[in-house]
Amino acid sequence: MRHLMSPLDLSVEELDELLKLAGDIEKHPEKYAHACEGKKLATCFYEPSTRTRLSFEAAMLNLGGSVLGFHSADSSSAAKGESVSDTIRVISCYADICAIRHPKEGAALVASQKSGIPVINAGDGGHQHPTQTLTDLLTIYNLKGRCDHLKIGLCGDLKFGRTVHSLINALIRYPGIEFVLVSPEELRVPSYIRTDVLEANDIPFCEMEKLEDAIGDLDILYMTRVQRERFFNEEDYVRMKDFYILDNKKMALAKEDMLVLHPLPRVNEIAIEVDDDPRAVYFKQAQYGVYVRMALILTLLGIKVDS
Ligand code: NCD
Repeated sequence: MRHLMSPLDLSVEELDELLKLAGDIEKHPEKYAHACEGKKLATCFYEPSTRTRLSFEAAMLNLGGSVLGFHSADSSSAAKGESVSDTIRVISCYADICAIRHPKEGAALVASQKSGIPVINAGDGGHQHPTQTLTDLLTIYNLKGRCDHLKIGLCGDLKFGRTVHSLINALIRYPGIEFVLVSPEELRVPSYIRTDVLEANDIPFCEMEKLEDAIGDLDILYMTRVQRERFFNEEDYVRMKDFYILDNKKMALAKEDMLVLHPLPRVNEIAIEVDDDPRAVYFKQAQYGVYVRMALILTLLGIKVDS
C-alpha cells in the first residue's frame, strides 16, 4: 500500500508517468469515466479548503467513484477529542482511499501509519502540500513543455507557505533549475530548506526582497499569499500582507513568455488586472489540479485503464 506524504514519495520516473497519465485524462476523459466505479474517496479536512477538497472530490466523481468526508474539525469527532490515528482507523472501514488536511505538521504521516487505506497528504500545517506540487508541475510541464532548465521565482510567504516547500523539494530533482527566492526578511524560506535541500544539493539560488529586481529574467513566477492563519499575532500579518502586489506595471518588466502561477486563494498579492494577461495561468492551474488528482487516485489504487 502506498501513501503520498511528500512529492519525494514519487520518483522522477513515476512523476513523469503521472503527468503523462494526467495529460491522457485531459484528452480522453471518457476512457476513465468508470475506472473507479464502486470505490470511495474520503476527504478528511481539519482546515479550510476550496480547491484541494473539491478538486479531489471532482476527480473521484469523474472516475465514476463516490466521495464522503468532513470539511472542518468542528464537524468531525475531533471536536470531541478523537485522535487522527483513531479517526483514520475508522475511515479505513468506510473508504478505499483518503485525502487528509490538518493544521499540524506531520498529521498526515501519523494517519498513514495507522491506516488500512492509501493516505494522501492534502496539506499538513506549514510543512508540505504534495498534490499542489503535482498540480504545479503539470502546469509547468504542459505550458512550458518541460520541468527542467528553468529560472523560477518564488514570491511571498516562503516561511509558512507549504506549497513552496513541496515545490522546491520536487523541482531540485530536475536538471538546470535555479531559484530566486523573493520575500521579506521575516518570511524567508526556513533554514532547513536553505541548508538541507538547496545548499546540500548545490542548487543555484539567491534571495531578494524586491520583486521588481527579480522579475526580469524569470521563466516562472510563483506567487503566494501571506499565510495569516500561521502567524502568531495579527499585527505581524497586517504589516506583511501587502508587501507584494503583482500588477501590470511589474508584469511589463517580465519576459514575454514568463508564466505566473499561484496555488490560490489569492488575497491582495496579484492585482485583478493581471488576470487578463495571457501569462497569468493560475486559473488554468486549478483546472489541471483535477486531472493530476485523477491520475494520482488511479496510481495509488493500482487501477490501470487500457489505452
Ligand atoms: C494552498 C494551501 O492550502 O496551502 N492552497 C491550495 O491548496 N490551493 C495555498 C494557500 O492556502 O495559500
